[in-house]
Amino acid sequence: MSTTLPAARKPGDADVRDTPAGARVEFRGLRRAFGSTVALDGLDLTIEPGELVALLGPSGCGKTTALRVVAGFEQPDSGEVLVDGQDITRIPANRRDAGMVFQSYSLFPNLSARDNVAFGLRVRKVAAAERRERAAELLDLVGLPDHGDRYPHQMSGGQQQRVALARALALRPRVLLLDEPLSALDAKVRANLRDEIRRLQLSLGITTVFVTHDQEEALSMADRVAVLNAGRLEQCAAPAELYERPATPFVAEFVGTMNRLPGRLADSGLVEVVGARLPVDGPVPATRDVEVLVRPENVTVTVPAETDAGTDRTATVVSASFLGSVTRLHLVLPDGTSVKADLPSRDAGALVPGARATVGLTERPVLVVARPA
Ligand SMILES: Nc1ncnc2c1ncn2[C@@H]1O[C@H](COP(=O)(O)OP(=O)(O)OP(=O)(O)O)[C@@H](O)[C@H]1O
Ligand SMILES: [Mg+2]
Repeated sequence: MSTTLPAARKPGDADVRDTPAGARVEFRGLRRAFGSTVALDGLDLTIEPGELVALLGPSGCGKTTALRVVAGFEQPDSGEVLVDGQDITRIPANRRDAGMVFQSYSLFPNLSARDNVAFGLRVRKVAAAERRERAAELLDLVGLPDHGDRYPHQMSGGQQQRVALARALALRPRVLLLDEPLSALDAKVRANLRDEIRRLQLSLGITTVFVTHDQEEALSMADRVAVLNAGRLEQCAAPAELYERPATPFVAEFVGTMNRLPGRLADSGLVEVVGARLPVDGPVPATRDVEVLVRPENVTVTVPAETDAGTDRTATVVSASFLGSVTRLHLVLPDGTSVKADLPSRDAGALVPGARATVGLTERPVLVVARPA
């Protein structure tokens, strides 16, 4: 009988959910370079107990490296990782309280699902009967109660990832690290498993860091989304806040879709853009000629065009993509500026390619960036 794990109970009872409450995880000034490549460049981020934080960012921005540092597979050059205030940076991986799931199926091919799940328990010398019972509970928890005898090659990708998740949870870690666990799966399986992971994570209360480069996945699952850029944190905020109030142009353009519309800074903190004068949010560039970042849903499109001759706000519809409740229009203004606008599909009927319409902007603060020369 193990001394590190409480005795297993009957499958289905509260045992699996007895996982100790999630830990607080802090990245402090993490730096890691591989030769001349800087993977982490002073990463600071605190994840609260029980939170699911998605790490989002372009390929190569350091997401996997950050996870590997928490798991203990990678040593930072400087900085530290704290778990509940304790510096674990020098603690070996096998003594850390973290479970990890990888992007590609990483099950042991020669072990059954049950033995894969129980692997860590065996390493920790948990007795056979208890291992079996606990593996059964976990397979139940991830929705595969009847798959204990299957080998990885006898399971679908989604099922293998469920087993990998059960394996990661077997030692009742206080931190769960998921590195693009869904990216090899097809869209439907992916969406189902996404919801299940979130449900499981909430019921276990386990602190979870979920790496993805899929913004929809990040925004739909996470309590907060941390956007990384070149090894540093750009912003960490709740999904709606990240979307509505991006702290930097990088975040604004990485999350969701943005128009870049030519504008001119006026005095009094306003910017003139497409016939509107909007308050400027965030830093103001030194030049007067700027690009204004505007979400497609903040572009209004009205028919008919104001006058027959048109104005500089009279646009021509280039294409209309039906996306369900919303239709995304691509329009072009007389000066050649292209504009994306999202309209309720019920209002978009007349806006077929070639149609003319008047473009306006919703009155709200906007981010601006210097216009490239
Ligand atoms: N073991 C390694 N040796 C050399 N370079 C590495 C190593 N691991 C990571 N890097 C480099 O560090 C940078 C960050 O890599 P990392 O894998 O953390 O990125 P990522 O954000 O996970 O990217 P992706 O979305 O493509 O998975 C990249 O430039 C990568 O090439
Ligand atoms: Mg990666």
